[in-house]
Amino acid sequence: MKTSLTGITPNNTAHLGTYLGAIRPALELAKTYRSLYFIADYHALTKLHDPAALNRHVYDVTAAWIASGLDPKRTLIYRQSSVIEVFELTWVLECLIATGQLVRGHSYKDAVARGESPNAGVFNYPVLMAADIILYDTDVVPVGSDQRQHLEIARDVATRLNFVFGEGTVVVPDALITDAPLVPGTDGRKMSKSYGNTVALFAPAKELRSVVMKFKTGSEPLEAPKDPETSVPFQLYKLVASPADIETIRKKLVEGGFGWGHLKEALYDALDAELAPKRAVYDELRADEARLDAILEEGAERARAIARATMARVRAATGIATPR
Ligand code: TRP
Repeated sequence: MKTSLTGITPNNTAHLGTYLGAIRPALELAKTYRSLYFIADYHALTKLHDPAALNRHVYDVTAAWIASGLDPKRTLIYRQSSVIEVFELTWVLECLIATGQLVRGHSYKDAVARGESPNAGVFNYPVLMAADIILYDTDVVPVGSDQRQHLEIARDVATRLNFVFGEGTVVVPDALITDAPLVPGTDGRKMSKSYGNTVALFAPAKELRSVVMKFKTGSEPLEAPKDPETSVPFQLYKLVASPADIETIRKKLVEGGFGWGHLKEALYDALDAELAPKRAVYDELRADEARLDAILEEGAERARAIARATMARVRAATGIATPR
């Protein structure tokens, strides 16, 4: 079985767009791979300098993934920062990457173009990310196309390490570009924190309902035939309802006599059916940080064993002594 690895930056709280676009597809993949998931807290530190918020986000994200179906018994989930070998490997990789390749990095270049003076963490971000991947003998990394360049850097540096220090020292990872379905927000634009159009993932049912009712729709009268394909709530409905239900609602809209308000009711019902059981698990888990710590530590324990074996090979290959 091949190994896939997913890194999750704990920079905010998951919303419905994160769930449908990232969490659900990633967990679907976990069925065909030996999967590792980690919370990239050191990556968050490149931008987030608020210890209380960082801590909160780590727990939010961990609870959200487990509530959404990640099974910590079958798959590893751990904090990036708990496996300190990642920094040993980062340094080795730093010494194999040309600075020019990092200068061309998207996020660094974009930050400079915006007139910011990004910190060195932003500059070196792709190297730490390559280490995250290579440390665990990762075969594939499912990512959106925004991460394609990062994956190319990881591949390049793994290939180079093997070329310079011996074939087979590390596993060369592949990107698995899984472009997430477009999840529309309440205003019809892509659901995103920065647009303020998100639906909170585990909000209480009443709050979920009131947000769903705010979705933009046309203003045709109840009797009028309606075009489902241009409707924002219908796009979302297609991501959560069963194929049979989608067809039923599509027909009703086209025939007329079925209002946009009815569609939003159906959307709310479908969302609540999918989210209510997960919400209960989330609420219980999120209230128990000691339990979340224990789960993350157990994952870290198992992750460390893989990391140590990789570092032993890398140390031996590069001529760095292993400390006693
Ligand atoms: N850069 C990724 C993101 O912002 C998070 C991440 C860090 C990651 N390290 C990784 C993803 C390693 C995959 C593999 O979403």
